[in-house]
Amino acid sequence: MGEKDILILAIESSCDETAAAVVKNGREVLSNVISSQIELHKLYGGVVPEIASRKHIEKINQVIEKALAAADTSLDDLDAVAVTYGPGLVGALLVGVAEAKAISFAKNLPLVGVHHIEGHISANYIENKDLEPPFICLVVSGGHTHLVRVKDYGEYEILGRTRDDAAGEAFDKVARAIGLGYPGGPKIDRLAKEGNPDAIAFPRGKIEGSPYDFSFSGLKSAVLNYLNGCQMKGEPIVEADVAASFQKSVTDVLVEHAMMAVQESGLDKLAIAGGVASNGALRAAMEQACAENGVRFYRPSPILCTDNAAMIGAAAYYEYIKGVRHGLDLNAVPNLKLGER
Ligand code: KG4
Ligand code: ZN
Repeated sequence: MGEKDILILAIESSCDETAAAVVKNGREVLSNVISSQIELHKLYGGVVPEIASRKHIEKINQVIEKALAAADTSLDDLDAVAVTYGPGLVGALLVGVAEAKAISFAKNLPLVGVHHIEGHISANYIENKDLEPPFICLVVSGGHTHLVRVKDYGEYEILGRTRDDAAGEAFDKVARAIGLGYPGGPKIDRLAKEGNPDAIAFPRGKIEGSPYDFSFSGLKSAVLNYLNGCQMKGEPIVEADVAASFQKSVTDVLVEHAMMAVQESGLDKLAIAGGVASNGALRAAMEQACAENGVRFYRPSPILCTDNAAMIGAAAYYEYIKGVRHGLDLNAVPNLKLGER
């Protein structure tokens, strides 16, 4: 006898993507609609919080209607409504949270608030039906760089984190310095393919005595110093070499720390998540290191690495079946910690 399917409408609005998805039983994505504001924020070289909030308000109903239609379902068929309630930009988060609460109230549906990073990690469940905790996950996004031990669904131990800039932030800042514009990650990824990763010896972002922590602000300064030095000496700057060498410096440290965490934990599964996990060089380097060490490697498709609501629906399902429910007093928590409810 099969159990009843659980259908969740998930909403994500923590940064500059307005997104909604319908997810069945945590792993089957019936629809995944993303309205990106990138073109708008490009003009300012980064996300402008007030503009993001306003745009979310404009788009959110359309995005939800599209997601329901694409999944061939309606609000009446749902079992729960889920929403990212932190961390993120408070004004942006509030739009999704208010919307989810309104739907929950109007349709008398259970409300499940989801941690954004838990969503990123859970993106791995969607295409890897066999993946179950425990495993190690490296979360690398625009705001976070965390090395996490996923002990069980919804149970996390943070092994290491960045002491300063997030990996994605470093990509964005270096991209700006070499004139590539926003968002920098995908542009560096592309340009680096034409460059020599060994052309310039940039420092590796390690922290003495904390083997799992990261630091990327020194690397960013080293790139800026290198660029200034070239300009002062009148030497030509080969942007592709700068991009490739910077990228290698980041990926080397990420791979090294992640492999160490898997081996020392005695686990044999490693997943990556977050916007930077869509980076071609990082995916290739992790894949190779895992193959060499007999570790199973998991990574979401690029579209599920960057912000989306399908990942929120996947995370919400495991919270839902555990009985986690939020009340209509749910609020946005811009600095929500992983593992908090
Ligand atoms: O996870 P995400 O979409 O949003 C946050 O939760 O922060 O991550 C966005 C970050 C940005 O810093 C962006 O530059 C970076 O992910 N990113 C990349 C790539 N695609 C996006 N970084 C490196 N290579 C990429 N291909
Ligand atoms: Zn994100």
